[in-house]
Amino acid sequence: TGAFTYDPGFTSTASCESGLTYIDGDQGILLHRGYPIDQLAEKSSFMEVCYLLLNGELPKKDELDKFTYTITRHTMLHEQLATFYRGFRRDAHPMAVMCGVVGALSAFYHDSTDITDPHQRMVASHRLIAKMPTIAAMAYKYSVGQPFLYPDNSLSYSGNFLRMTFGVPAEPYQVDPVVEAAMDKIFILHADHEQNASTSTVRLAGSSGANPFACIAAGIACLWGPAHGGANEAALNMLREIGRPEKIPEYIARAKDKNDPFRLMGFGHRVYKNYDPRAKVMQKTANEVLEKLGVTDPIFDVARELEQIALKDDYFVEKKLYPNVDFYSGVILSAIGFPTSMFTALFALARTVGWVAQWNEMISDPEQKIGRPRQLYTGPSQRDYVPLDQR
Ligand code: CMC
Repeated sequence: TGAFTYDPGFTSTASCESGLTYIDGDQGILLHRGYPIDQLAEKSSFMEVCYLLLNGELPKKDELDKFTYTITRHTMLHEQLATFYRGFRRDAHPMAVMCGVVGALSAFYHDSTDITDPHQRMVASHRLIAKMPTIAAMAYKYSVGQPFLYPDNSLSYSGNFLRMTFGVPAEPYQVDPVVEAAMDKIFILHADHEQNASTSTVRLAGSSGANPFACIAAGIACLWGPAHGGANEAALNMLREIGRPEKIPEYIARAKDKNDPFRLMGFGHRVYKNYDPRAKVMQKTANEVLEKLGVTDPIFDVARELEQIALKDDYFVEKKLYPNVDFYSGVILSAIGFPTSMFTALFALARTVGWVAQWNEMISDPEQKIGRPRQLYTGPSQRDYVPLDQR
């Protein structure tokens, strides 16, 4: 391999040092700043986890209050951005809208684009975390033709997002505490996941000194793909396509067939080869939400049955393919009432804190350099140009 190590997909290359998130894929362990994900999901709140990822420690009461106040203060979007939304087709995918709108923030918040200033970096990070729910909810409102709702800062981060998405100006919106708690848990479970494709994209974009809004837009673009964040949408679409439990064996057979590109969406993970610790919490939350909301949709039966069949199937057992976080998150989001097209947008919303925390860590690292992988050239060797009439 010449002077370079060839590592397609970077399966054995550490691209950075990081103190944020630890994963042991064989043991099914995920820690944020040392704290296990199941403890954070069960006992903490998304605001606390954001503070932890950004600042390194769990906040004391006054620190959490101040942080929550700061995030709340930044929830509004520049009014002119509403015009930007109106330039999209109504059927635009929310992720397309999010890539555009988040990138466009660079044009509105010039006072937080100097990456050499730690204060500006933190302001940009707070702005991004705070504005994401507003941006995602507006993408949804635009797609269904309802008026945009301004944030209501008396509500929690998750409650506010639910109201901006499902509320209408004509009547008061009552946030369901079970749904609000489930939403908060989904956000916690997606907050960070070390050097996954979108986070690596944010770091690579940021390594050139690009402004944080542009970097996060790059992360959103990467997250969109079905092998990454798009898997929750793909998983739910697959469940709908399967439609009835009787059809599951047909799809299992297709997933095992090497000549068929079909994969069971929501199964398998690059790093977790035992189980995905996020999926465990998500599965429990899915059951709680389905029970509370009394939703009876045949796809939930398909999901339960598919999980049972796949967990016992030799192919999936041998290849260590387990349901991942996206398998269950799709089920919960669907039960809450989100259209599948919003699933990945919600993942982007939650992952924003991970992206900005990783970006801040990278910019503060004295060893930081522009990311510049090399290649193994496989094209023709040097040859002379042939004039057009002699080819
Ligand atoms: N269904 C059927 N077969 C599978 C699946 C699946 N979902 N996932 C992996 N395999 C097989 C694959 O065909 C390969 O078989 P073989 O060794 O015979 O060629 C083997 O398992 C290893 O797969 P791989 O693609 O080399 O593994 P990877 O680590 O590169 O890919 C993955 C991991 C997540 C991209 C993959 O499992 C997949 O495509 N899963 C479905 C999409 C999905 O659910 N993605 C969400 C990931 S979790 C959240 C996130 O990261 O955003």
